[in-house]
Amino acid sequence: MSASRFYITTPIYYVNDKPHIGHAYTTILADVLARYHRLLGEPTHFLTGTDEHGQKVQQAAVANEITPQEQCDQTVVRFQELWEKLEITHDDFIRTTEERHKTIVQDILQDLYDRDEIYSAEYEGWYCVPCERFYTEKDLVEGACPECRRDVEKLVERNYFFRMGKYQEWLISHIESHPEFIQPAHRRQETLGFLRQPLGDLCISRPKSRLSWGIDLPFDADYVTYVWFDALVNYISGVGYGSDAEQFASWWPASYHLIGKDILTTHTVYWPTMLKAIGIELPTTVFAHGWWLVGRSKMSKSLGNVVNPMDMAESYGVDAFRYFLLAEMSMGQDASFTEEIFTTRYNADLANDLGNMASRAVKMIVRNLGGRIPPVPEKGEDECELIETTLAAVQNMRDHLVDMHLDRGLAEVLGAVRAANRYFDKMKPWALAKAGDTEALGRVLYNAAETLRIVSGLLYPVMPTKMTELRRALGVPESKLAPSLDALSSWGGLEAGAQIGELKTLFPRIDVKAKVPKDESKKKKKSEKTPEGIVDLVGIEVFSAVKLKTANVLEAEVVEGASKLLKLQLQVGADRRQVVAGIAKFYTPAELVGRTVVIVANLKPAKIFGIESDGMLLAAKTGKELKLVTTDGQISSGAAVG
Ligand code: MSP
Repeated sequence: MSASRFYITTPIYYVNDKPHIGHAYTTILADVLARYHRLLGEPTHFLTGTDEHGQKVQQAAVANEITPQEQCDQTVVRFQELWEKLEITHDDFIRTTEERHKTIVQDILQDLYDRDEIYSAEYEGWYCVPCERFYTEKDLVEGACPECRRDVEKLVERNYFFRMGKYQEWLISHIESHPEFIQPAHRRQETLGFLRQPLGDLCISRPKSRLSWGIDLPFDADYVTYVWFDALVNYISGVGYGSDAEQFASWWPASYHLIGKDILTTHTVYWPTMLKAIGIELPTTVFAHGWWLVGRSKMSKSLGNVVNPMDMAESYGVDAFRYFLLAEMSMGQDASFTEEIFTTRYNADLANDLGNMASRAVKMIVRNLGGRIPPVPEKGEDECELIETTLAAVQNMRDHLVDMHLDRGLAEVLGAVRAANRYFDKMKPWALAKAGDTEALGRVLYNAAETLRIVSGLLYPVMPTKMTELRRALGVPESKLAPSLDALSSWGGLEAGAQIGELKTLFPRIDVKAKVPKDESKKKKKSEKTPEGIVDLVGIEVFSAVKLKTANVLEAEVVEGASKLLKLQLQVGADRRQVVAGIAKFYTPAELVGRTVVIVANLKPAKIFGIESDGMLLAAKTGKELKLVTTDGQISSGAAVG
């Protein structure tokens, strides 16, 4: 990441349908990172927008009986309204149907064609309509699309191709020499794995006879541009490439392209090779986050479980929703959304810990100290401990901004809030007030309020409205409501005598009982007795909640300093995963590579010995023996076991 300026992008979203929680997550993440970088005093540019061409949009328009342009114009508003509601502070919103974008795509195409980076040829391949991607025979998984597993169509047609294949070696060496280019590390491995196969050229055109909604190829009026070749260019057309050299020089290369894990190949293979051919530097980092699942299921229209971010923000408040998404998703891994998970975290972190602390401190200062911040007090052992925890949270949050573990940064901040609550409970300021010990009372309340000043500053980019309310109530001057991160790094910022304001309940508790469906809250019926000798029977619904899958071991290595652990890289269908397993005493790494094993595929990711582990290997165990569960003969990876 450049130290002097910060340019961050989200994917541009298809306008075939309204936004969902996945779109909201990436955009909120980008917003929070942009806000933090602004607080660090860095010039920051945050670009988002919509991907308006291609088959998906054309199909949606047909289904809605409107023109594709009407489809775009009607749907883009849903995104723009949502970003306004969610307090997204993007600097620019690009639509790929805008002239400023279309012209640049055409200029690039013409230039590449003139330099023979694009050529025409007859193509025979398999095409996945929903993914809008061509595949060769060997790409297919059991005859279906390797990405979405839906049916593919055979197509033979003349098309235009970008000479992507010739950049394969260059790309591998760039990825290997720039570990920051693809993050997290397991996604980097995934792209390198993809690049172990020969890289073909990329079909960048669609005949108008098949798809008319796209940017015309400047050198052949019978074709439009493949939607990905058009869409990726937004990251440079949006900052003046080809139109405003000064603007482009001031932002490019991008610090971060934030994307979901499903669009890794387009961003880490197509995009860098396109940039190389155009002659432009590569972005510093492409960061691929995991997916939001609903419970344990994939979110989909057909399952009727799509989470509408607008509804969430309406029901629970914008700030709480923003906080939840960032705190709950461990960066790079999938996360699970249900209203129950939401409510549990909301009540624990926001209503109980933060809300309570704020309300207790502010109320006591108003009631007992005339509503004025007391003088900066002497520090005892308890104070030093609280100060240390709080300032460590500031440093850790700053570090986690760099290593992209915002969830861990937020956990540190909440840790400081809990420390303040503990301090408060130990010091019992209410008893000091009763005893009339104003000096000791002032000391406790100052320290509690000062912790809140720092914490509210750290949380400001995540919950701008609620933290502004809190900071105002704490007597922080208007000019410092948006804090500089440096101002949070030292203790004693609250000024003695500052007037404390009114504070309404920041996060009213959500009544869980009122939300739990009746039959779920019922106790186990007496008739459901467990037969003797068997520990708790489970119904099929409990068993089928555990997703077991076959996996192929691609790589295995010992974990240094942990005699029992092996770190494995697994292929699970189209996915790559890293799993840490306690089997080093029973298997050597070499014995494992190439084997088919069975894993629990939907286990919450964990850190084992400081290493991310995403899943668990099944093994049969006695006291001294351990044998991995495997399959009776060869079967492809990712197959369901059950
Ligand atoms: N238009 C392309 C991106 C072009 S970028 C040059 C696209 N659009 S999309 O609307 O289908 O998806 C946008 C993003 O949403 C992707 O990053 C995708 O990973 C993300 N998500 C879609 N479903 C998701 C979840 N359930 N959870 C989290 N993000 C997910 O792809």
